Amino acid sequence: MQTIPVPLARHAYDIHVGRGLLGEAAERVRAVLQPHRIAVVADETVAGLYGETLREALAAGGADAVLVTFPAGEASKRLAQAEVLHEALLAEGLDRKSALVALGGGVTGDLAGFVAATFLRGIPFVQAPTSLLAMVDSSSGGKTGVNLRAGKNLVGAFHQPALVLADIDTLRTLPREELLSGLAEVVKHGVIRDAAYFELVETGAEAILALDPETLAAVVAGSCRIKGAVVAEDEREESGVRALLNLGHTFGHAYEAASGYALRHGEAVAMGMIAACHLAERLGLSEAALRERLAALLRRIGLPCTAPAYDAEDLLATMRGDKKRERGRHRFVLPRSLGTAEVVTVDDEDAVREALRLTISE
Ligand SMILES: NC(=O)c1ccc[n+]([C@@H]2O[C@H](COP(=O)([O-])OP(=O)(O)OC[C@H]3O[C@@H](n4cnc5c(N)ncnc54)[C@H](O)[C@@H]3O)[C@@H](O)[C@H]2O)c1
Ligand SMILES: [Zn+2]
Repeated sequence: MQTIPVPLARHAYDIHVGRGLLGEAAERVRAVLQPHRIAVVADETVAGLYGETLREALAAGGADAVLVTFPAGEASKRLAQAEVLHEALLAEGLDRKSALVALGGGVTGDLAGFVAATFLRGIPFVQAPTSLLAMVDSSSGGKTGVNLRAGKNLVGAFHQPALVLADIDTLRTLPREELLSGLAEVVKHGVIRDAAYFELVETGAEAILALDPETLAAVVAGSCRIKGAVVAEDEREESGVRALLNLGHTFGHAYEAASGYALRHGEAVAMGMIAACHLAERLGLSEAALRERLAALLRRIGLPCTAPAYDAEDLLATMRGDKKRERGRHRFVLPRSLGTAEVVTVDDEDAVREALRLTISE
């Protein structure tokens, strides 16, 4: 097992990455929390696979643990579902001295984390991520929330977990396309912060796809280290460092919207990173070799590095409405070289159009 400390000023916590961690959860949870009662919150799919294993492990360790479930899928990330969970926690006898474990992917982490942030004005919670995306991205960082009709994650709270338990054995049952989605964020971490980590992913790509446990553990731990360091520098997205995690996401969100959300998030981010490379090249910030190396890795992993021919004006309109924009100007995270990126204000929309054009598949 590897332990990555996240040294936040007021809520420092550890991320544990390794095999069999769900079975050892009681001891790890007890080291940081002594709750009256624990609710394991999971979607029905993950509950069916790991819910009882975790609940029993917690109960065997002396905790009073219950399992609470909700329907799988992004559609559950709603205030109405949060309220159903609040009521269920109350019915299960949870009180202010109780805790919650979010067992599952990013939907569960965001929804159950939001429920923990708001139930009785906030109870502590543990993240037990079971999707690669949740392990490397959503489970650390403390962003929790639900969607509104107008857009994703529009209601939420910062609520840091007391602990993250990333049991990589759970990745064995993860659908292939979900694994790929998480890998887009893995590659992104290397590009923005850490050339050696990018090389680790290049070297290990086949082993990752074959679910080799040692390689997966190294990759998850490496990503958690990068994300943890970024979050520790900029816990509430104030200094701008945390914005670097949005590499590929401004373009990516526009691609997702243009596809009517038929594209998966990871696919859109992969295309978006290539578009960001093209834009950086147009602005003289990076060289073609970086994009070619990134594209080669994405291709090996099975992620797209060209985009369908969406209407550029539609894409630009979506990007103009992106909530990350400041004072009406386009802001992009652009790569400089492998392992460094920066937030750049771009007033030249023609350069953005050109980047979009160059990203389209021939
Ligand atoms: N809070 C953050 O910082 C942050 C960051 C990135 C993404 N997110 C959010 O994360 C969500 C996406 O997360 P996701 O991709 O994990 O989605 P998800 O939680 O819906 O999981 C994807 C699917 O995989 C299933 N699943 C999960 N783990 C499994 C396992 N081990 N075996 C078999 N099936 C498994 C789930 O039941 C679900 O059907 C989005 O809502 C996004 O907004 C949040
Ligand atoms: Zn993302």
